[in-house]
Amino acid sequence: MSNNLVIVANRLPVDRVAQADGTPGWRVSPGGLVTAIEPVMRANDGVWIGWPGGTETDLQPFEHDGMSLVPMTMTQEDIQGFYEGFSNGTLWPLYHDLVAKPEFHREWWDSYVAVNHRFAEKAAELAAEGATVWVHDYQLQLVPQMLRELRPDLRIGFYLHIPFPPAELFQQLPWRRQLLEGLLGADLVGFQLPGAAQNFVRLVRQRVGHKTHRDLVYLPDGRTVQAAAFPISIDAAGFEELARSESVGKRATEIREALGNPRKVFLGIDRLDYTKGIYARLRAFSELIADGHLDVEDAVFVQVAVPSREQVEQYRILRDDIDRLVGRINGDLGRIGRPAISYLHSSYPREEMAALYRMADILAVTPYRDGMNLVAKEYVACKYDNEGALVLSEFAGAADELRQAWLVNPYDINGMKSAMLEAYQADEREITRRMKAMRKTVTQNDVAAWADSFMSELSDVPSSHGKAV
Ligand code: G6P
Repeated sequence: MSNNLVIVANRLPVDRVAQADGTPGWRVSPGGLVTAIEPVMRANDGVWIGWPGGTETDLQPFEHDGMSLVPMTMTQEDIQGFYEGFSNGTLWPLYHDLVAKPEFHREWWDSYVAVNHRFAEKAAELAAEGATVWVHDYQLQLVPQMLRELRPDLRIGFYLHIPFPPAELFQQLPWRRQLLEGLLGADLVGFQLPGAAQNFVRLVRQRVGHKTHRDLVYLPDGRTVQAAAFPISIDAAGFEELARSESVGKRATEIREALGNPRKVFLGIDRLDYTKGIYARLRAFSELIADGHLDVEDAVFVQVAVPSREQVEQYRILRDDIDRLVGRINGDLGRIGRPAISYLHSSYPREEMAALYRMADILAVTPYRDGMNLVAKEYVACKYDNEGALVLSEFAGAADELRQAWLVNPYDINGMKSAMLEAYQADEREITRRMKAMRKTVTQNDVAAWADSFMSELSDVPSSHGKAV
């Protein structure tokens, strides 16, 4: 009981890996959440509670790279019911505009409640008197209320990294009231965009019956809960520094050479997820070649698909679909040594990502729905020379800020084709003008500013008992 800041997230910021000598070790994991929180944790000397992946049971708290980490264990049943089931088979598709069909199973819900309770108990055990606890994301929406019951002295913040759906979709959930009440355990509930905060407040008024005014909810016990938007960002300076480094520059040249030095390289980097619109994007690119607007001698599409949630059926189906599509496109349109699509199903360290961003001419980020999309911001941060075009879905949170991108509706294949072609044909002045403006936005609003604004808002909440960090 000695920590003044406790971060609670489903994932620890590290993954279990086999080291070169065969013994198990840890490696900082890829993924948006980790990138965003790590600096805040370090700055506040906090502790991070999370699942390291897998089913190992005898894990003890440990330090990694100066961070205090407390691993939570999960059984195979927890993984199936809580993680693959309710979190990623129910909430994920429901919160992403029903891009896939959510499934509602009572056993999944029971598992979600039980795992949320274990996380709340662990946070209650570690937090110092009056500490601040920051709970993250859709997997842990019940933790704020459970934790408040255990430890009323704490100041509790919750941040949702993914979209929060409109009432019309949310109310399909058989457990809608419990989830709303779970979130109301927090003093501050943060979202990516103002529309999401409004959806939440409206649902609380309609479904729970509490009084609300603008972004405030008044609870019968006298507490006030604030709902507000805090658009997340990245370590912009860190990415730029990496992109400018000699080793990354060398690697970027190597990659272009390996691709046969085409005139322009398109790039896509996504977790292999059905919300990301990878299939439609690759189809749009292939049609530009088939129509004769692009030639494989001049243009190639490098698509990195980071393996994700591979035990969930919809993700397996997606992988098969993309494998088949890439095979067909390359079979139909490629030439010897000139595939139309260079497809990589793997995750890469930050250095390799920075090299990919640095060498690419056009990044295509075309999700059907995305809370923010940090890949778009990382690319912008890496384009220190202002050379690089961004094709961006209107339905990514990032589109609210990166207005100078070529904005597209990912459901409109012809529209995507036109935008990709325009970005391909744009002259240097146009590209520089747009990139300069986007870089200003990204560098001025980095992840440190995001965390500071959440933390300072949380410390201002009047009704909380906990002290501010
Ligand atoms: C998104 C979610 C995170 C999640 C990440 C990776 O960014 O908002 O909460 O950790 O995807 O997904 P995974 O299921 O592997 O944790």
